[in-house]
Amino acid sequence: MTATAPPVPRLHVVTGKGGTGKTSVAAALALALAGSGRRVLLVEVEGRQGIAPLFDAPSLGYEERHLAAGTGGGEVFGQAVDADEALLDYLTMFYRLGSAGKVLQKFGAIDFATTIAPGLRDILLTGKLKEAVSRTESGRMAYDAVVLDAPPTGRVVKFLNVTVESGRLAKTGPIGKHSRSVARMLHSSLTTVHLVTTPAAMPVQETLDAHRDLVAADLPVGHVVLNKVAAAKPVEVSADEVGAGLARAGLSADATLVAGLMSEYGAARTEIEAVDAYRDRLERLGRPVEELPLLPEGVDLSGLYQLARALRPGPAARRPRDGDTDAA
Ligand SMILES: Nc1ncnc2c1ncn2[C@@H]1O[C@H](COP(=O)(O)OP(=O)(O)OP(=O)(O)O)[C@@H](O)[C@H]1O
Ligand SMILES: [Mg+2]
Repeated sequence: MTATAPPVPRLHVVTGKGGTGKTSVAAALALALAGSGRRVLLVEVEGRQGIAPLFDAPSLGYEERHLAAGTGGGEVFGQAVDADEALLDYLTMFYRLGSAGKVLQKFGAIDFATTIAPGLRDILLTGKLKEAVSRTESGRMAYDAVVLDAPPTGRVVKFLNVTVESGRLAKTGPIGKHSRSVARMLHSSLTTVHLVTTPAAMPVQETLDAHRDLVAADLPVGHVVLNKVAAAKPVEVSADEVGAGLARAGLSADATLVAGLMSEYGAARTEIEAVDAYRDRLERLGRPVEELPLLPEGVDLSGLYQLARALRPGPAARRPRDGDTDAA
């Protein structure tokens, strides 16, 4: 890493309003980032099991599992991170609690701890992300990139910033130290938060609000992904041309039919023009706006690869360099 080249982000957080395509975009981004020889970990944190069906794979667990080959010949692994398992990991790591931790879990102590301190759950989840981003194996990074299918826009800032608070509260001791190091990574250029939206009023507004909140919280914003964009382009058609077209097709061009068709054409046009207006509003944020097509069949495995190809070169464009290994 030189002074002029900031590190390439290695943690890609994908958020957006519910239903806009966070899980699909996170999965497609993981495939796009998995260039030749690269290993990408795709993580979900809310027990939704949204990733596995996209890859026609069995449910994900805490164990990282190979999911698919990336578009560039690399590999994508998947993991569903659960706070209880992360706490066991944490206890093992910091207190060498191995089997005692399992006993705590058996007696419900872990459930109890994460229930009385809801923030603890997010501290553990984000801590686990940091561990995956920083892990080395045989002298190289275990993963070139980690992609998180994150909580929706309404909750993402709180989720990402929980360690700022706990780092402040716990001035000494392992929790404080751990929290501060997680917060440091989440606020550094190793992390980037992508915002997914569809071309519709509510999701676009939520994107603008989330952008403002992320910036205010000093969290690094990456790309805006405008998902589910219909392929149609507006064409100029007059009522006379519609009438002539109907006549050419041997149909009667009566005024009511032409008026009906013109009204449908007007509605479709308005929708297409609205997409342009939404794109303009998003571009004013000053972040790269990536567009993904509306797939007529929804997102199946081949659709996922189609979205992955459309994302390159995008958030996936840059490869890591030597020296990008410092996640602390
Ligand atoms: N580009 C696209 N073209 C067509 N359908 C899409 C596209 N992207 C997502 N979808 C569909 O939209 C629905 C929601 O997508 P997805 O589950 O990825 O969204 P989400 O934001 O993760 O939702 P949730 O908030 O429920 O977690 C799914 O049925 C998915 O197949
Ligand atoms: Mg989802």
